[in-house]
Amino acid sequence: MDSLIIQGGTRLKGKIEISGSKNSSLPIVAAALMTTEKLTLHGVPRLSDIDSMLKLIGELGCHVYRHEPKNRSVGDGPDLNGPLDLTVDNEKNCEARYDIVKTMRASICVLGPLLAKRGKAIVALPGGCAIGDRPVDLHTRGLMKLGAEFRYENGNIIGEVPNGRLKGCRMYLGGAQGPTVLGTINVMCAAALAEGETVLVGAACEPEVWDCGELLNKMGAKIKGHGSPEIRIEGVDALRGAEHRVIPDRIECGTFMIAAAITNGELELKHCNLDHLIAVVDRLEEVGVKFERQNGTIFVNASRRINPIEMTTQPYPGFPTDIQAQLMALLSIGDGMSVITERIFPDRFLHVGELNRMGARIRKEGPTAIVHGVKELQGASVMASDLRASAALVLAAMAARGTTRIDRVYHIDRGYEKIEQKLNAVGANIQRIKGERAVA
Ligand code: EPU
Repeated sequence: MDSLIIQGGTRLKGKIEISGSKNSSLPIVAAALMTTEKLTLHGVPRLSDIDSMLKLIGELGCHVYRHEPKNRSVGDGPDLNGPLDLTVDNEKNCEARYDIVKTMRASICVLGPLLAKRGKAIVALPGGCAIGDRPVDLHTRGLMKLGAEFRYENGNIIGEVPNGRLKGCRMYLGGAQGPTVLGTINVMCAAALAEGETVLVGAACEPEVWDCGELLNKMGAKIKGHGSPEIRIEGVDALRGAEHRVIPDRIECGTFMIAAAITNGELELKHCNLDHLIAVVDRLEEVGVKFERQNGTIFVNASRRINPIEMTTQPYPGFPTDIQAQLMALLSIGDGMSVITERIFPDRFLHVGELNRMGARIRKEGPTAIVHGVKELQGASVMASDLRASAALVLAAMAARGTTRIDRVYHIDRGYEKIEQKLNAVGANIQRIKGERAVA
């Protein structure tokens, strides 16, 4: 397992290109299962989670081809990676095996597309997760309302469509913690090929839901209201091939905004959409961070003083749970006491203990963390527990005095494309070691 060795105390300055969104790309890649025509996707990042999803759809009969990168193609923004061509040529297999599902919970995204297109799906149940309990009951409930039937056998969800085709209806999709992002996408995908009209009330409004709806419409679906709490879907008989560029990764962008703030630096973040980060900008402005926007570029400039704030994670457009840990790292060196409440995944606090190892003073009380700002963090050996917690540790390490070693960084490779190259190019000092051998 790789580790990162980070020398702290550097000030970041320069330009970073934001990659395409991981969380948009995952369900969008799964949507390739809904047609036998070619889907061409631009901006899909090279990440281990994407590799897992490509492997999964490969097993489900989809041919995957990644082109060499070119400087420009459709839409704006550079292609850090070449476009992906996805074409299904065999629809026999309907099983998402546990070996893949256990490495990536987003494998559940194939459930709706498989049921809608092939009438059958066997998906291993994802199981436990470092950020807390993550059931999939809302996914199956929504799909059952469209006529799918489920049974559970040997750790798998087995879904079938008894009459061959799902049937649209009006349904409420919210749960105890609010809407579900991937659940909304699964049901929206399934409804796109169902008979008649489906209305999803209480749908997730995240930009990733909007993006998947846009792709499906390019494939011939008839979807309105995606990105709002009420989505209307007029089912069609078949979907066709399409070309699409995924939206910029708002979580990567928010993480780099905090990287500028925590190192008292100045960053120019290219190819991002500030509208997707309105709540993050709101909180960071109160902390003292300054933003300037020019087309798709954001200039982030941080002052030395970090004001304490209160923040509660919420469904979009609220502050995203996926940036909670990174904000906590920043507030740990704030000028006073901050309060962070986690409303989406109330147990998503494994980073608290690791930040405290670096000298932070954070106390957890139920779904809330009380953060007493300290003068400085110190380098230490810490352990990455999940993707966003790892990002928080990288941020803390860049601000800390001395050297930090972060073990188990495979978590970070799941969701941040070339993170050490991007940060080193703007002044960070991060080295990756593979086992005991240092690599350039
Ligand atoms: N929930 C249920 N039942 C369900 C589904 C969800 O109770 O069937 C609950 C969850 O336990 C949670 C809440 O509903 O309390 C919201 O979960 P949601 O379903 O929205 O999460 P998700 O769709 O599985 C996506 C992202 C996560 C991100 C969440 C919340 C992807 C691949 N994953 O997960 O991203 O934290 O939405 O915004 O899009 C990450 O990138 O690090 C990550 C974890």
